[in-house]
Amino acid sequence: MADKKKIILDVDPGHDDAVAILLAAKNEKLDLKGITVVAGNQTLEKTLQNTLNVCSFAGLNDIPIFAGMAKPLVREQVIADDIHGDSGLDGPQFPKSTLKEEDKHAVDFIIEECLAAEDGITLIPTGPLTNIAMALIREPKIKENIDEIVLMGGSYTLGNTTPAAEFNIYVDGEAAKVVFESGLDITMVGLDLTHQAKAYPEIVERIAEIDNDVSNLVVELLKFFGYTYNRVFDFDAPPLHDVCAVAGVIDKDVFTSRKMRVDIETDSELNYGRTVCDFYGVVDKEANAEVALDLNKELFWDLLIEALKKY
Ligand code: BDR
Ligand code: CA
Repeated sequence: MADKKKIILDVDPGHDDAVAILLAAKNEKLDLKGITVVAGNQTLEKTLQNTLNVCSFAGLNDIPIFAGMAKPLVREQVIADDIHGDSGLDGPQFPKSTLKEEDKHAVDFIIEECLAAEDGITLIPTGPLTNIAMALIREPKIKENIDEIVLMGGSYTLGNTTPAAEFNIYVDGEAAKVVFESGLDITMVGLDLTHQAKAYPEIVERIAEIDNDVSNLVVELLKFFGYTYNRVFDFDAPPLHDVCAVAGVIDKDVFTSRKMRVDIETDSELNYGRTVCDFYGVVDKEANAEVALDLNKELFWDLLIEALKKY
């Protein structure tokens, strides 16, 4: 088999981030070099603890975990406790974690790992882009070794935090601007795609049938996530946003995409954090992102379920 793809997963768990970690750690095509944590769905202290709890519970003892930026580059912190609860990962009770974060800062790890990755590395951010932007600002040379950034964030239609903006981009629009204007290969896995990844009861049933500790944890996570998505958005099932980005790196057939210009709005009160997507190619600006369009649901759920069976 071809060499595994080196990846860094940058997360803010978060129910869907937790499941994204579980997929990334158990797919044979990926070599997960480290998990970097950022403030987002909750404070950094909580998103870090959640990452440690999930990895410890799942027996993922060999993946280094790094704490990163506790605040957006410019703005005040915004959290999503309405969706993810007071802990950021409400629902399951975790036993005390046996893991600890590394001494190194997440941004230093990203820089060092990218500089060392002469055969290329892929970044998968599933939270606000603060850590990634900071690494790009501090050491632009890392671009030479980054194959691509496949990020969960944005939308070419509607937002979920304001009518115009998706949460991850809204939290740190300035960081998103740095990433989208970096000149790197960017794939934007936005809400238009991730809302096709709703975990309906038949999917939850397939996960429950695996019946190991980790699949049972996922069922519990989905229960809480489903409840809040129903209460806040009136959704009939919870969408596993962040898992879509990881799945897209494992297999390009997970979604279709279209290359277009994506600019990040940072100057407007009503539209702050909007990913302005030139879907029809009407502006004379170079396209800078592949924007995910249609999800291959069968392939997506099969990838996740196969990974969960390995625990
Ligand atoms: C994104 O926001 C967070 O609440 C989720 O974890 C996901 O990354 C969806 O807008
Ligand atoms: Ca997230």
